[in-house]
Amino acid sequence: MVKKRILSGMRPTGKLHLGNLHGALNNWVELQNEGGYECFYFVADWHALTSDYKDTGLMGEYVIDMVIDWLSVGLDPSKSTLFVQSRVKEHAELFLILSMITPLPWLERNPTYKELQTEIGDKDLSTFGFLGYPVLQAADIIMYKAYGVPVGVDQLPHVELTREIARRFNYFYDEVFPVPEPLLTEVPKLLGIDGRKMSKSYNNSIYLRDRDDVLREKVGSMFTDPQRMRKSDSGRPEICNAFAFHKIYSPSDEVDEIEEGCRNAIIGCVECKKRLAGAILKGMEPIHERQDYYLNNLEKVKEFIEDGISRATEIARLTMDEVREVVKI
Ligand code: TRP
Ligand code: SF4
Repeated sequence: MVKKRILSGMRPTGKLHLGNLHGALNNWVELQNEGGYECFYFVADWHALTSDYKDTGLMGEYVIDMVIDWLSVGLDPSKSTLFVQSRVKEHAELFLILSMITPLPWLERNPTYKELQTEIGDKDLSTFGFLGYPVLQAADIIMYKAYGVPVGVDQLPHVELTREIARRFNYFYDEVFPVPEPLLTEVPKLLGIDGRKMSKSYNNSIYLRDRDDVLREKVGSMFTDPQRMRKSDSGRPEICNAFAFHKIYSPSDEVDEIEEGCRNAIIGCVECKKRLAGAILKGMEPIHERQDYYLNNLEKVKEFIEDGISRATEIARLTMDEVREVVKI
C-alpha cells in the first residue's frame, strides 16, 4: 500500500506548552500511529527568523528543546521523519523559484500577515522575508508532494495559498506538484492560566517541562469563574478554564462530580485546582519520563535529527531535479 504523505512544521519558540500539545502535537502523534500515513514533521527555524531575526542566539537551543519535547510526547523517529528546515537547503531554492511566480497581492491580502504584524507589535515586520512567509511555507509543503497538512485553523490561509501557488506552478511548467489538502485539527478550548490564549509571549503557559511545585503553583493561580467569589457561590464550569483541563486530564466520573460540586457550591476552586494539578501531573508522567531520558541522552536526539535530515534531503533533491527540469534552469 502506498502511504499518503503528511507534513507539518512548527516554529521553534523554545519549550513547548500544553497549548502546543493539545493544539497540534497530539494530533501529529495520532496521525503517526494510525499507520496509514508517512509523516514528515519539521522545525521551521527559517520561519522563526522571519519575525525573530534580531536576537538569534538561542535558536540552536530552541531547536533541540523542541525536538526533545516532540520525542517526549510520542513522536517516534522510527515512524516519522523529524528534521530541521534550514538543514535542507533545497527549501531555499524552491522558495526562490516560487517567489518568482507568486503575485504580490496574494501575499498582501493574507490575513495572518496582518494579524501577526499587529500581534507581534514590538518588532518591525515590514520586511521582505516576513511578507514571503507563506511562500516559504508553500515550498516546505510541496517539496515533499504532501497530500495533507495537519494545521490549526489559523494556518488555513497559508495552506490555501500553497494550493494556489502549486496550481500556478503546474500551469506554467508541468504537473509536478499535487495540490495539498489542509487537515484541520480539532482543538479543545484550553487557555493560559490568565484566561488569554496560551502563549509564550503572554507568560501564561504551562510547559511540558513544568514539574511538581512549579506546575501546582501555576494551576493554583489559574483564572476560574470570575463571578464565583467564595465557595458558597455556585460556579459555572462551562466557562471555567480549569474545568476545561479537568475534562482532559481527570477520569470522567470525577469530572461529573466536580461539575456537580461546582454548580452546587460544594467544592471550592482551591480544592478543585489542587485535584487538577494532580491529574495533570499524573497525565504527564510518561512525557516527563521520556523527557528525562532524552535530556540525559542528547546525542541520541541529535542522531535522530541527522537521520531525519538525510531522509528529507533525499526526497527534496529528487523534487528539485524535477523542478529544474520543467523550469528549464
Ligand atoms: N507557519 C506554521 C506555524 O506557524 C509553521 C510552518 C512552517 C508550517 N512551514 C509549514 C506548517 C509547513 C505546516 C506546513 O505554525
Ligand atoms: Fe472552575 Fe473548579 Fe472553581 Fe468550578 S470549582 S469555577 S470548575 S475551578
